[in-house]
Amino acid sequence: MKVYCEENYDAMSKRAARIMREQIEKKPDSVLGLATGSTPVGMYKELYDADFSRVITVNLDEYVGLDGTHDQSYRYFMDNNLFYHTNIKPENTHVPDGTSRDAESECKRYDELLEKFSPIDMQLLGLGQNGHIGFNEPGESFIPNTHVVELTESTIEANARFFESKSDVPRKAITMGVGAIMQAKCVLMLVSGENKADAVKAAFSGPITPRVPASILQLHPNVILVGDKAALSGLIETGIELC
Ligand code: F6R
Repeated sequence: MKVYCEENYDAMSKRAARIMREQIEKKPDSVLGLATGSTPVGMYKELYDADFSRVITVNLDEYVGLDGTHDQSYRYFMDNNLFYHTNIKPENTHVPDGTSRDAESECKRYDELLEKFSPIDMQLLGLGQNGHIGFNEPGESFIPNTHVVELTESTIEANARFFESKSDVPRKAITMGVGAIMQAKCVLMLVSGENKADAVKAAFSGPITPRVPASILQLHPNVILVGDKAALSGLIETGIELC
């Protein structure tokens, strides 16, 4: 694993954007696995002028029940924080459909799509305070395939800041499983802020356990972790080598 420790959020965003830009330049038809949330917003802004004309994207997750016009849906997030600002072809962007009448068959459709584009060249990840990646929440086992997940109380609380009230946060989501994430040629994880420090430490210096879903990344051969000092503080204590 390569760990880049940057001074602050802005420097983290610039470093991550450079890594993703290099990926796109090296392979213009890259398949990128993308994430939403507050962490990658700065990185996406830095990439508006990158050449996405041949890039294909597959997103990690979507809330069940929200359609792409809902301003908290992940489709809306991606359109407004990245896609509308770039030359990407809309038909090359993929987000699970949260409005499908049959969420289970939507999971199957999404897995078939992932299979078609497999392996993802670079998978971008954020990290939940509870150690989740995508919406792979802490549990009893790692789930390889795309699945419907009941969001944990801590995730609902963490995401309530984006909604008018906590009760508006959807209770379910569709998420890519850890299988497609682990098959990605490269995983780029971004972490920022003190509130991620414990999760970062648990994920990368604790035991590999489905109770901390991100800990499975310890088994991935090519992880790049880009964080600011605050988020990486717990890991730095362990003496991990930094770039
Ligand atoms: C979003 C996603 C989530 C977030 C995580 C961190 O597509 O997959 O796992 O990456 O919840 O969210 P932020 O960046 O808002 O702290």
